[in-house]
Amino acid sequence: MSYSRRNGQNGRRDVTQTTAEGLPAGPSARRTIVLMATEDAVREALATVNDPEINRPITELGMVKSVEIGEDGAVAVTVYLTVSGCPMRETITQRVTEAVSRVDGVTRVDVTLDVMSDEQRKELANALRGGQAEREVPFAKPGSLTRVYAVASGKGGVGKSSVTVNLAAAMAADGLKVGVVDADIYGHSVPRMLGADGRPTQVENMIMPPSANGVKVISIGMFTPGNAPVVWRGPMLHRALQQFLADVYWGDLDVLLLDLPPGTGDIAISVAQLVPNAEILVVTTPQQAAAEVAERAGSIAVQTHQKIVGVVENMSGLPCPHCDEMVDVFGTGGGQMVADGLTRTTGATVPVLGSIPIDVRLREGGDEGKPVVLTDPDSPAGSALRSIAGKLGGRQRGLSGLSLGLTPKNKF
Ligand SMILES: Nc1ncnc2c1ncn2[C@@H]1O[C@H](COP(=O)(O)OP(=O)(O)O)[C@@H](O)[C@H]1O
Ligand SMILES: [Mg+2]
Repeated sequence: MSYSRRNGQNGRRDVTQTTAEGLPAGPSARRTIVLMATEDAVREALATVNDPEINRPITELGMVKSVEIGEDGAVAVTVYLTVSGCPMRETITQRVTEAVSRVDGVTRVDVTLDVMSDEQRKELANALRGGQAEREVPFAKPGSLTRVYAVASGKGGVGKSSVTVNLAAAMAADGLKVGVVDADIYGHSVPRMLGADGRPTQVENMIMPPSANGVKVISIGMFTPGNAPVVWRGPMLHRALQQFLADVYWGDLDVLLLDLPPGTGDIAISVAQLVPNAEILVVTTPQQAAAEVAERAGSIAVQTHQKIVGVVENMSGLPCPHCDEMVDVFGTGGGQMVADGLTRTTGATVPVLGSIPIDVRLREGGDEGKPVVLTDPDSPAGSALRSIAGKLGGRQRGLSGLSLGLTPKNKF
């Protein structure tokens, strides 16, 4: 006896029984049976639905309140949102409907949204934090596999944020999990340059960072109304940076880039305290004066016992639009000068990781939120930036880039 099936509508399947010879067993053998959807099957389908912000299955996040299956195959799912005004409510409803509709025997899906209680939100925040109630900077823990680069410069306007954003986007395009903290409290510009216009959402006291071009980003600019200037003193800056590092849900990152304010201010010292293993990436222009201040900014690493990963020279020459020559708008040799100076002061070799020419497309990309490494990857600036990203990103990967061949018990 064998069965040949053909899909019917509304979860019904016509099942025709045939004899061993493959002949129909006669009219009496033909009947219609109704396949009932099971709760297990529906929950299995729900396990494929990720929360759009936390990016984990809603079943693991305790977001499925109830599943009810009617006799007619109609399924009612109630989903907990983390906050009542959740901007993702439509996305969640749609994802749940799609996933459950695919289950055999389901004729209709009704999604009801509820909101987590304070208690549930606390539990979720704890789970996301890996059971740690206290604020700890995950990147500072001895076992952390995330490489943290603090991007520093002596003065503003040398292209520190442009370099940060493009390195981040290039690494993300290479498949790395990347986060950026815009720690330039006074001159925050990273979200705009990255095209991240989303707002962070809060689950209890965990902050979910928006992302753009595959990069998670958090900036002080996201917490101030409009474009209000921020006048903060040292302790508050320290507190803000600590929050960005400890209370933002970054997940497993391969690389975290910190865009620091220019100079040798409080934030650089806070970084050293909060993430002692952060390595410093110094950005300078080829100009002598800029190079001198960049070197001073880099020397702070000696006092804080941090490693300097290298120097990036930005705005190194303008390719002449009419000939093949380079116009050295800001002079030459600044990057090498800083690297040599820092090698002397730190006693460790500090390399020049690359030189980025002046390129209008890089500036335009920054203004439009479309990093040049993505829009024009083979332009001179784009390829210089991608090469630096390759050097920094390829050095060592976090766990997220490796297959361990086993399923961690605690997925958080
Ligand atoms: N290589 C480059 N070519 C053209 N314009 C650049 C380049 N690097 C930076 N810029 C532009 O210079 C300005 C300052 O850069 P920015 O990244 O904001 O510097 P910083 O963060 O050091 O203050 C921005 O308008 C940016 O688009
Ligand atoms: Mg900047």
